Amino acid sequence: MNIQFLGHSGFIVTLGGKRILFDPFIGGNPLNNTTNIDDIACDLILLSHGHADHCADAEQIARQNDCTIISNYEVVNWFGQKEIKGHPLNHGGMTTIDGITIKYVNAIHTSSMPDGSYGGNPGGFVVWNDDECLYFAGDTALTMDMKLIPMTCPKVTVSILPIGDNFTMGFEDAAIAAQFVECDNIVGCHFDTFGYIEIDHAAAKQAFEAKGKTLHILEIEEIIDL
Ligand code: NI
Ligand code: MN
Repeated sequence: MNIQFLGHSGFIVTLGGKRILFDPFIGGNPLNNTTNIDDIACDLILLSHGHADHCADAEQIARQNDCTIISNYEVVNWFGQKEIKGHPLNHGGMTTIDGITIKYVNAIHTSSMPDGSYGGNPGGFVVWNDDECLYFAGDTALTMDMKLIPMTCPKVTVSILPIGDNFTMGFEDAAIAAQFVECDNIVGCHFDTFGYIEIDHAAAKQAFEAKGKTLHILEIEEIIDL
């Protein structure tokens, strides 16, 4: 699959010809001065939880593409009040849209909307078609529940895991998460955007290498095929 990094936890993943946008936080990201939000084209928007650093630009991008937001019930409802199309999921549930199956899985974190209203419980996504499978962890601590993913989903080809510590797991725990989900190819997210989550890239890569895993740290707008 083809993965483009938009900074922080924002990605466009192309799977089976569909462009899936995850957690867009572009306008407010101090590290991304290159991406023009008006140019973002996608078929679906997946939001892991309600925090502004994951859904700040979802409304505009959903409108300009007339596309559906998939998230938990509370996040979808919040955007629904702005007349954005949505498909709600809750933990353990999945749906198939245009040949792509999307499952909402557990994350240990918090969730509130940018205006402070209730954002439900945070989650991650496992997304697959007949050929490939992606785990997008969202903001989360390391959790034993990650072991359920290889038991209940197809073999995970690529995992996008937070590695920045402080608000999520750090890279040492993320390397254990890669073992739990039985995935060798990891793309890092949720690092360096703010002072709290600045990391040593070489040390992060080494932590994964020590477990026989590869950590990819992308530049903003960089595209990788995995
Ligand atoms: Ni968060
Ligand atoms: Mn976050």
